Amino acid sequence: MSVSMIVFSSRQYDRDVFTEANAAFGYALQFQESQLDAQTAVLAHGCKVVCPFVNDVVDEAVLETLHDGGTQLVALRSAGFNHVDLAAAKRLGIGVVRVPAYSPHAVAEHAVGLILTLNRKLHRAYARTRDGDFSLNGLLGFDLHGKTLGIVGTGVIGRVFGKIMAGFGMTLLAHDPGPPAEDLIAAGARYLPLEALLAQSDIVSLHCPLLPSTYHLIDADALAQMKHGAMLINTGRGGLIDSSALVDALKSGQLGHLGLDVYEEEGGLFFEDHSNHLLQDDVLARLLSFPNVIVTSHQAFFTREALSEIANTTLGNVKAWFDGSPRNQTDF
Ligand code: NAI
Repeated sequence: MSVSMIVFSSRQYDRDVFTEANAAFGYALQFQESQLDAQTAVLAHGCKVVCPFVNDVVDEAVLETLHDGGTQLVALRSAGFNHVDLAAAKRLGIGVVRVPAYSPHAVAEHAVGLILTLNRKLHRAYARTRDGDFSLNGLLGFDLHGKTLGIVGTGVIGRVFGKIMAGFGMTLLAHDPGPPAEDLIAAGARYLPLEALLAQSDIVSLHCPLLPSTYHLIDADALAQMKHGAMLINTGRGGLIDSSALVDALKSGQLGHLGLDVYEEEGGLFFEDHSNHLLQDDVLARLLSFPNVIVTSHQAFFTREALSEIANTTLGNVKAWFDGSPRNQTDF
């Protein structure tokens, strides 16, 4: 049976890895640069499989258009699925599969990179020495060794991240409503309620999914509960943090460092070159003006290994679905 699949929001690197992985599957792949939304959904007409990315719109209206065009499966090339109206997909009989785990190391290592860069101010040092400024003033950091790290969400990524950070000699605190991770406990982690974790951690890193229960998990109250001058890292999803509360916390020094790989309003902005346009998002513009803030544009997943795993798992999910033994369905 010939299966046609359209890959939305695709860039050259997506074409490369999907084309290579498809050698083993032989699907009819179409690559579309546009993001999937109410206007572009018609482009999927005739495609049994639609492959959206993280900021594509997969709401009820889009799903209805896809359904009318003959789409049977939404094969997400991401772990997160907060952007999909699962109830509407179920009602329309459209399957939704995802890539639950692809190189958790990619995301965990990026979180570590943000911590080291913010702490040792490598972003400032890089610019300084290129400008002939070899002074150290303002670059003072702290030893990670002996400090306390709070991990919010100890699933696949949180666990890899925690074990790396244990190697720095950090004390690990963890919060997760699910069962504790044995490997993190073996690495010395203690599970605590969120409030206690926030109050005791020098660095807090978010690794939970965006769900109704985690929306704005970190708001003005939570920021006030953190240690004065602590560091906050978010490689989870933008909506985990109420970004409007961040500016005040940074201005007062309550928040000492901020590393964001995801941003609440990143849709339509991240993954694109907007350098010739005026930034319209005032909160993001203000955040980018702080020297102790680093924003990366949802690149934590972006390693060769992860891209290759994403392509192979996505195409494998499609095969399993059409073979009648679905796997990696969204089950929340
Ligand atoms: P996972 O499903 O293995 O783990 C998530 C953990 O969060 C689970 O243990 C769950 O019990 C926990 N959790 C749920 N509600 C919570 C709450 N209120 N407080 C604390 N923990 C809570 O997912 P995985 O693979 O570790 O990924 C985590 C998140 O990272 C994904 O949901 C996705 O949003 C994000 N992600 C970001 C990427 C990036 O490029 N920046 C790439 C891949 C994932």
